[in-house]
Amino acid sequence: MTATLINGKAVSEQCLQEVAKQVGERVAKGLRAPGLAVVLVGDDPASAVYVRNKNAACEKVGFRSFSYTLPADTSEEELLNLIDELNHHAEVDGILIQLPLPAHMDSQHILERIRPDKDVDGFHPYNVGRLAVRMPLLRPCTPKGIMMLLNAYDVSVRGKKVVIVGASNIVGRPLALEMMLSGATVTVCHRFTENLPAEIAAADIVAVAVGKAGLVKGEWIKEGAIVIDVGINRLADGSLCGDVEFETAKERALMITPVPGGVGPMTIAGLMENTLQAARHHD
Ligand code: GUN
Repeated sequence: MTATLINGKAVSEQCLQEVAKQVGERVAKGLRAPGLAVVLVGDDPASAVYVRNKNAACEKVGFRSFSYTLPADTSEEELLNLIDELNHHAEVDGILIQLPLPAHMDSQHILERIRPDKDVDGFHPYNVGRLAVRMPLLRPCTPKGIMMLLNAYDVSVRGKKVVIVGASNIVGRPLALEMMLSGATVTVCHRFTENLPAEIAAADIVAVAVGKAGLVKGEWIKEGAIVIDVGINRLADGSLCGDVEFETAKERALMITPVPGGVGPMTIAGLMENTLQAARHHD
């Protein structure tokens, strides 16, 4: 079997077009264009690329974008002051603090300062909690984007055995909550998991979000499984690859997300949807 490639770029483009259409309708009715503030602290090159892509997406869908680039030695207090200002800003519907933050900052403390109704990343404990109790409001963007992608390919997860590799706050944990909400039987694997190949071999759907190139071997994948690769790793030759050994995995899987062009663009689609949703809440 050679897997169907899941085209996240195409699905993301469709979502952005739909958001753009709805922004146009808002503006035609005399409502504000949604506003997104993106804050980058420091000069991590990968983060700078992600922030640029987020600002470009804002432009594409007709959002106002507010971009802040702060030096790596910014104090926590200075960043908290900026968040307070954005929390009060009437034109800002969403606030995104690009992660990772410099090591001297307490990320959780910073994220909890964002007003939950402007937390378009969905990382505030209020929003994570809403998802956990099956009453989601603003949902973390990458897991949301993955659910949108599966939906676009008519994949139902109900009753399926879903194995998630990686238990991060950004992807693994909220993805487990999304999958449970959609009726999957969920296993979350992490650094203490004793037999990762055996867990993966039992999965109908495998989602990997660890950040280690080639961590998951193609031969571990069950024939006909669906593979969602969230990893974005840069190799020595400058090329990008995921956490799954792509060439071997695609010979066994039914569908697989490529890297780049799979999950990555969907994170942005999820973010744009969340920002529109936040703006509607602020009308
Ligand atoms: N860093 C890696 N992924 C993300 C994300 O989804 N949001 C933010 N803010 N930072 C990230």
